[in-house]
Amino acid sequence: MKANIITMKLVLILVLGLTMACESSIDKEVSIIPQPVSLDINKGSFRLNSNTQVSIAKGTGKTQKVVDHLKDIIDASCEIDLSVVKENPSKENVIIFEICVDIKDKEGYELHVSKDYIHIKAKEDVGLFYGTQTLRQLLPVSINKQHGGEGELAIPVVSIKDAPRFGWRGLHLDVSRHFFSVDFIKKYIDHMVRYKLNVFHWHLVDGPGWRIPIDAFPKLTDEGAWRVDKTHDEWNWRATEMGKPSDGRPAYGGYYSKDEIREIIKYAEERFVQIIPEIEMPGHSLPPLLSYPELVCENNNIAIDGLRGKDVVCVGSEFTYQFFTKILDETMDLFPSKLIHIGGDEVGKSAWKECGRCQQFIKKEGLKDEKELQSHFMSRITEYVNSKGREVIGWDEIMEGGLPKNAKVMSWRGYEGGIKSANLGHDVVMSPISHTYFDLYQGDPSIEPKAYGKLYLTDVYKFDPVPEDIDPAKQHHILGGHACLWTEHVRTPEHAEYMLFPRLLAFSETVWSVKENLNFDSFMTRLEKHHRLLEKDGINYSMSAYNVAISEQIDSIDNKYMISMANEVNRHLIRYTLDGKEPSIHSPVYQGPFYLGNETLIKAASFRNGKRLGEIAEIDLDHKHKIEETNQVN
Ligand code: ACM
Ligand code: ZN
Repeated sequence: MKANIITMKLVLILVLGLTMACESSIDKEVSIIPQPVSLDINKGSFRLNSNTQVSIAKGTGKTQKVVDHLKDIIDASCEIDLSVVKENPSKENVIIFEICVDIKDKEGYELHVSKDYIHIKAKEDVGLFYGTQTLRQLLPVSINKQHGGEGELAIPVVSIKDAPRFGWRGLHLDVSRHFFSVDFIKKYIDHMVRYKLNVFHWHLVDGPGWRIPIDAFPKLTDEGAWRVDKTHDEWNWRATEMGKPSDGRPAYGGYYSKDEIREIIKYAEERFVQIIPEIEMPGHSLPPLLSYPELVCENNNIAIDGLRGKDVVCVGSEFTYQFFTKILDETMDLFPSKLIHIGGDEVGKSAWKECGRCQQFIKKEGLKDEKELQSHFMSRITEYVNSKGREVIGWDEIMEGGLPKNAKVMSWRGYEGGIKSANLGHDVVMSPISHTYFDLYQGDPSIEPKAYGKLYLTDVYKFDPVPEDIDPAKQHHILGGHACLWTEHVRTPEHAEYMLFPRLLAFSETVWSVKENLNFDSFMTRLEKHHRLLEKDGINYSMSAYNVAISEQIDSIDNKYMISMANEVNRHLIRYTLDGKEPSIHSPVYQGPFYLGNETLIKAASFRNGKRLGEIAEIDLDHKHKIEETNQVN
């Protein structure tokens, strides 16, 4: 008996030890992204275990799907198979889902966690779904399959009321420059819903590849979905480099079958994500131009000029209208979305200037110039889409030459196009390159994978879809915000995730949370738990915001160098060395700008809790100055 008591004590110590190991301090943190409207945290926790039940107190035909989603999350995290019951009158160890008409916002929800039960209330299933996403973020990080099964998950006692600031919280993916599999598109949608985004903008066609099959024009995918594989500037193909797998040359590309597209639409619908397909026109049109020469303007040698601003279809030809209306018919047959994106960006006008047909068309229709020609084309396409009961959205260039009636605008070149369009009474989605383009560098180009421009985490967090200089009476035309991932330099899912995370989280907060709740310091603190959550789920995120930028300034009187260091996350400790060694937790802490003695090699990194975060930054002044001198001499 005594031995048994000792064994039991040992088991208890072991179990407690394990439980304690599971519940690290980060587990107890309530770190919700995007930040909810209101959040009260109280003492104690609900213990989720294999006896926990789920009950639908009041639901619709679709509520079970939301419950299944929660069951999948819990099962994947810790192999606890929650049982679903109709009612749980004792209100003990139960998660209750309830449709509740008193909640005002269509996407809003309330989540109350007490020691005895969890209650998620919402006006509609979509709100219950978002409540579930928040609950997911309250789960401890360290649960895993080993600690699951008979274990317990401690969920902190909280009371949350939440609703989004904007109804449009969008994310785009360019699958033309690089092709992404059906599985990755589903994963991409999962990434979106974790952070309560709800519009997936599928950029299906563009110069480097056509990815949607069109029965009326099979060559679009038979030929246009493929190109000869290259490793250098691989996306930037020439007409001579079209290549099908059957050509015997290494082919790169692919497209989605109609069944796969339907499968993805269903997958998104079940997660309350609407998919907006984009059919680019009249520019970015190499695949149609190469496979259907009837679309090419007179005097446009597409094989040579296609990449020099002449990748536009001839809009003076009636065939072009028939071509795109047929493509739109099949697109609208597939996609149930009210909106269809018709592109309209970066349309070079020189091919139209040199084309007899286009010039004659301009005269016949009494148009002023090629800008009005584009507007005429876009308006006719818009009218066609409207005649089918749908609406169009286009990039902000569709304003030039006159905005088509009823068209919505996606403002990417900045806020201006969006402001003008909203002031004209058009609905607008803000997607300015200055704040929401995730294809841009998120850190020092010398250590980041190749990209364009610059868009740091802090820049994303400053995004506000409603700029100040918009007429207050027109603000309601701003539907929300939209982030883009163009894939010129992004070939793999891992790389796509690296570009998305953590900027996606910052973006989600700018389009969901109320302005008063936005606070970058608080965001960065909450982000730390999310790093762990993402890691647990095998998502490849970037730590670039922690990287240190080292700058030097010469004091020309004393001929000394002043060194400054900064990271995006100022509050984290920077440690540095001047002796060529790697910085460690024992290296001096950066306290502010300092003068160098004879040292020339500086290395620095961010550290927290004894762990290095991000890369080691390095500057070798001797080497740098020699290069600068050589450049000056030359
Ligand atoms: C765009 O980035 N060209 C819309
Ligand atoms: Zn033409």
